[in-house]
Amino acid sequence: MSDFVQHATHGDVHVLRLNNPPVNTLRTEIRAGLLAGMNAAKAGGAKAVVLIGTGRMFCAGAEMTEFGKPRVPPSLPDVFDAIEGFPGIVVAAIHGSALGGGLELALACHARVAVADAQVGLPEVKRGFVPGAGGTQRLPRMIGPEAAAKIIVSGDPIKASEAHRLGFVDAIIAGDLEAGAVAWARANIGKSFTLARNRTDRIAGQDAAAYDAVIAGLLKRTRGQESPKGCAEAVRASFTVPFEDGLKKERELFSTLVAGEQSKALRHIFFGEREVLRIPGMPADAKSLPVERLVVIGGGTMGGGIAMSAANFGVPVTIVEMSEEALQKGLARCHANWERTVASGRLSQAEYEKRKALLTGSTDFEGTVAKADLVIEAVFENMEVKKQVFARLDKAARPGVVLASNTSTLSIDEIASATSRPELVVGMHFFSPANVMRLLENVRGAKSSWPAIATATEFGKRIGKLPVLVGNCDGFVGNRMTGKRTPQVEKLLLEGCLPADIDKVMEAYGMAMGPLATGDLAGLDIGAAVRKARGTVAPVADAIVAQGRFGQKTGKGWYMYDEKRNRLVDPEVERIILDVAEKMQVRRRKISDEEILERLLLPMVNEGARILEEGVAYRPIDIDVIFINGFGWPAFRGGPMFWADTQGLKNVRDKLARYAESTGDANLKPTALIEKLAAEGGTFAAMGAAAKAA
Ligand code: NAI
Repeated sequence: MSDFVQHATHGDVHVLRLNNPPVNTLRTEIRAGLLAGMNAAKAGGAKAVVLIGTGRMFCAGAEMTEFGKPRVPPSLPDVFDAIEGFPGIVVAAIHGSALGGGLELALACHARVAVADAQVGLPEVKRGFVPGAGGTQRLPRMIGPEAAAKIIVSGDPIKASEAHRLGFVDAIIAGDLEAGAVAWARANIGKSFTLARNRTDRIAGQDAAAYDAVIAGLLKRTRGQESPKGCAEAVRASFTVPFEDGLKKERELFSTLVAGEQSKALRHIFFGEREVLRIPGMPADAKSLPVERLVVIGGGTMGGGIAMSAANFGVPVTIVEMSEEALQKGLARCHANWERTVASGRLSQAEYEKRKALLTGSTDFEGTVAKADLVIEAVFENMEVKKQVFARLDKAARPGVVLASNTSTLSIDEIASATSRPELVVGMHFFSPANVMRLLENVRGAKSSWPAIATATEFGKRIGKLPVLVGNCDGFVGNRMTGKRTPQVEKLLLEGCLPADIDKVMEAYGMAMGPLATGDLAGLDIGAAVRKARGTVAPVADAIVAQGRFGQKTGKGWYMYDEKRNRLVDPEVERIILDVAEKMQVRRRKISDEEILERLLLPMVNEGARILEEGVAYRPIDIDVIFINGFGWPAFRGGPMFWADTQGLKNVRDKLARYAESTGDANLKPTALIEKLAAEGGTFAAMGAAAKAA
């Protein structure tokens, strides 16, 4: 018998242990081992079989690296046939997680027992497909189609205790799981269990219209994405056609979706989010420095959010502010934010008290900084201010302590030059709201050492962030690329678009919010101040700001807003735009949605390529992961560089050249990297794969 599935006997109860740690994916050897194990248990006269997992969890599901390769038997359904045809009972014993194919394996068993806080779920929808091994047919037969659809369409796991309440976990086991599961199986030998496939009690009489109404609600939040619709359709088959036909329907949907562009994009991001944590060139022995206490300088919008993130993950943190008044304001904002979460039921009062106790404040700069193991600065975005703060930090902090800046545009090298420890200065660029957004752009200065980088990386992970290491430049990766889109927005408005035309296209593409609505949310005065500082003009945007339209905070910006902050089209904005166009003698024309999309995305792709040429981002995947996690980019589009590959880089080059010509924007001239890849027939994906292999 293979090591991948270990077989033990306890009298007439046999135990088959999935042994492909840490997560026991259902690779070929596991499937073969399970099939052989079931046959051996049957031959050995077992009356019950317990399936259990080694390591962190029961089973994380299919082995996604086997996708797209020729399928090697036995298939998962072959294994399930052996389980369902077994003359005794088969019991899945779940700890950690049972996800995807792992949960489907458990659903094919006669019964399931679990540790109370184990997680069960069918996350396939998040990888762009539907559960492919009967999950969409068996789960509805156990808990009803509507409850099953909620789990399958969202893809979010639930606790085993909740699954027990819903009825698809039979018992919660306290104490040792294996011993408890064996005892439970033994106690139930001879009892009759109806396999899910043979049950009709929960699907009989399901009202199709009621089901469709539930689905319509669930699909509201998944605009533009195909897999949630596929999941809903598969579950619908559970009560409209016989079991075998439902399986067929599920299989068809699985095959179509898994081969589609959206699923490829989602898997690209799934693997990418792991890949970005492997930093090229980082020595294996680069140790992060231990952090027992974080100190955040500045308790404003960002400092408060950063401090909350630390407390949310159990790290003691102190905010340093300039005055008692500013400090109390900052702390109160954090408390109010947590209180809203408590009121919504997503945070317990006890957990809130714990977090509140971890978050302290002080106006004693030197005294507080002296106790820090890591400092993150989030004061005003002004180089002189930052340099003064860093000079002071350098004197007050213990030797060896890393000093990080949350600057979004300023040079980390210049900030570091104000200290005697430039090797310990890095950027840790959080995104607003910092307690919510997962992205953390860590910035490597010219002198940043590996231990400093490792500290920023490890600490970011510890407080629930996804750190992506980038190089030092104006705007780093995300804001620098987005910045190249802005001039095209301005031009489109002049040439024929209205704000809603542009936002509509980007939102249909899947963005959480179009660029103009986002501007209104962030405040249009900020962009105006940046333009002023840089001596640039944007006639349309400037005319809007000149009317005191700063965005949501003034009730008007590119749109007008009602008391509930609903976005409404304002005819006044159209008048302002037409006025500017007329003064500039621009003949407005109808601009197609396709042109809008291309003129917004292609400049970003081009800048992304330039960023790769410069080595500011290590790999195309770093850029894609940044946009998915920090800029509301839809994961099912895979990020800007992935999108460029789907368009074909020759096409991308030709269109860039054309738009550079027609719009007179030199930024759109295809970069050398795009020229090269287009000429070679290359892709960003292949470039990334080569980097990985090197
Ligand atoms: P903010 O104005 O809300 O907060 C800055 C705070 O720092 C103020 O409360 C101020 O009293 C305090 N402060 C200033 N000098 C200080 C000193 N010497 N000692 C202690 N406290 C001091 O600004 P915000 O938005 O939080 O930005 C802070 C930094 O984060 C800036 O570098 C900004 O570029 C960056 N950032 C901002 C983002 C945003 O969306 N607001 C996003 C990412 C980065």
